[in-house]
Amino acid sequence: MKSYFLQVKEVIRETEDTVTILFWHPLSEQIKYSAGQFLTVSVPGPDGKKVKRSYSMSTSPTSDTAVGITIKRVPNGLVSNYLNDQIKAGDFLEVIEPMGNFVFNPATFSGKNLILIGAGSGITPLMSIAKTALKANSDTKVSLFYGSRNENQVIFKKELEVLESNYQGRFNVTHIISQSTDTWVGLKGRIHQANTILWLKEIDADLKNDHIYVCGPEEIIENTLKIAELYDIPKERMHYERFNAPVNTESESETGDELKKQTVTVKYDGETHEFVVEPHQTILEAALDLDIELPYSCQAGMCTACLGKCTSGKIKMDEEEGLTEKEIEQGYVLTCVSHPMTEGVILEID
Ligand SMILES: Cc1cc2nc3c(=O)[nH]c(=O)nc-3n(C[C@H](O)[C@H](O)[C@H](O)COP(=O)(O)OP(=O)(O)OC[C@H]3O[C@@H](n4cnc5c(N)ncnc54)[C@H](O)[C@@H]3O)c2cc1C
Ligand code: FES
Repeated sequence: MKSYFLQVKEVIRETEDTVTILFWHPLSEQIKYSAGQFLTVSVPGPDGKKVKRSYSMSTSPTSDTAVGITIKRVPNGLVSNYLNDQIKAGDFLEVIEPMGNFVFNPATFSGKNLILIGAGSGITPLMSIAKTALKANSDTKVSLFYGSRNENQVIFKKELEVLESNYQGRFNVTHIISQSTDTWVGLKGRIHQANTILWLKEIDADLKNDHIYVCGPEEIIENTLKIAELYDIPKERMHYERFNAPVNTESESETGDELKKQTVTVKYDGETHEFVVEPHQTILEAALDLDIELPYSCQAGMCTACLGKCTSGKIKMDEEEGLTEKEIEQGYVLTCVSHPMTEGVILEID
């Protein structure tokens, strides 16, 4: 995986708890990315070790010259607060190249219109997707259902208004506010199944053809997946990105698999590491505890930064959401949620 030290071009305060950080491209090359992908930012942690977090690009590869990420502060969160408080123009940040499968690519897009549903910081990849689709596909209509806690926390409020006026008839935004003031005249509450279905009817969504992109809290993703099931929307047209890991309620005894201490071999970056993984550890945790530098970002099975291929032995993943069925069949695993189930596990990481 390629790392860059990117210089910060500008820091834009979007709301009191959210900033956009725009980067200059490196002198030697333009950073290539698809709308919807994320960068992994690596900052020094309290113990001197690097801490990595993923941030979706809010800029568009087709309409913005700089590459940018937008970060909403999480209470007591290490990296989100650091990026909100410490970073200024001229600073350098270490980032890992763009990754992710939650993408909109105008060149290969076979559908017509886009339906975007998101809340809070979930707007970031949706913003990139909206700008890209509006610029690149002149007959594509984009509708956004966007939930925020209050009027002051609407990220990209002004930019969304400008886009709506520049692309009249092709772009519409419906805001919904959960803790609104008395002066708010728009929709009130949180995004849920019933108001999403109503909104889809209002925008005259064509659920037989439109592509749906969802990003936000788990409940929004779950609700939209239920709607997809209800209306028979196939997987190819349902795209979703989680910023937090879903809660895994399946216990070990339910799966019938018992975790045991096993030795694994990991081949990465021209080196071969052999180490023991305890039952309470994932393969990535065991490696990091031994200061073996393997690639990772979210550590929750969502970003695919820790992707590897199991070429021998058996591995069990706590969470399979981050990979496609085909990737799982081909032996791909995410080391951050993987446990060796047999001796002799060999993992190859590109
Ligand atoms: C693929 C991907 C893309 C992402 N894109 C963005 C983005 O564009 N913008 C953005 O702001 N964030 C984004 N995130 C979330 C981001 O990576 C971090 O998880 C988030 O900023 C919190 O990190 P932290 O170090 O500040 O908090 P931590 O120090 O990791 O966590 C502190 C506490 O907050 C809780 N917590 C962690 N994350 C959240 C959360 N999102 N909401 C509520 N509580 C939380 C933890 O459980 C913990 O108790 C993305 C995540 C993924 C996996
Ligand atoms: S580190 Fe993100 S999926 Fe493993």
